Amino acid sequence: MRALVTFGSSRGGTEGLAKMVADDLRDEGWEADMLPPRQVGELSDYDLVIVGGALYAFRWHRAARRFVRRHKTELRQHPTYFFSSGPLDDSARQKDIPPVKGVKKLMDQTGARGHVTFGGMLPPDAKGYPASVIARKSAGDWRDPERVRDWTASIAAEVQP
Ligand SMILES: Cc1cc2nc3c(=O)[nH]c(=O)nc-3n(C[C@H](O)[C@H](O)[C@H](O)COP(=O)(O)O)c2cc1C
Repeated sequence: MRALVTFGSSRGGTEGLAKMVADDLRDEGWEADMLPPRQVGELSDYDLVIVGGALYAFRWHRAARRFVRRHKTELRQHPTYFFSSGPLDDSARQKDIPPVKGVKKLMDQTGARGHVTFGGMLPPDAKGYPASVIARKSAGDWRDPERVRDWTASIAAEVQP
């Protein structure tokens, strides 16, 4: 069983989550390719596709949106799951945060089976506006490897050969 994990990430937080997902899948006995969208070719070799996107101003990262739009038809033929990464506080651990509107629409278009929101990460020295201003109050790392592991294990259990 082979999985693709791809992601849209500007500052590395979501890329790190994608790596956790890929590593956890390997621990579950899967082969897992973790690739940025531009390096992904055909999806036909994969039994599972997971797409993660950072949230910026209530929208999924552009690279994640583009990937899904480009592969919309193929994704309908694959078990597909999405994750978002964003909240710079404990909220993603406390409750289930539904997908933003644009992500929900992409889920409907691709028949994606599930979605989760994980906490985000913002370095204290984040560059650019408004990231540097947000970082003054909200810098930190709210990614939770245990939650990632639980989510990945539930997918591995759902997608049986
Ligand atoms: C300018 C800016 C806008 C953001 N907007 C949102 C948002 O709308 N919702 C959210 O949950 N998190 C938001 N965040 C937090 C990011 O999603 C979080 O830092 C995430 O981990 C970034 O992922 P990346 O490191 O992969 O780029 C925002 C962060 C910045 C700097």
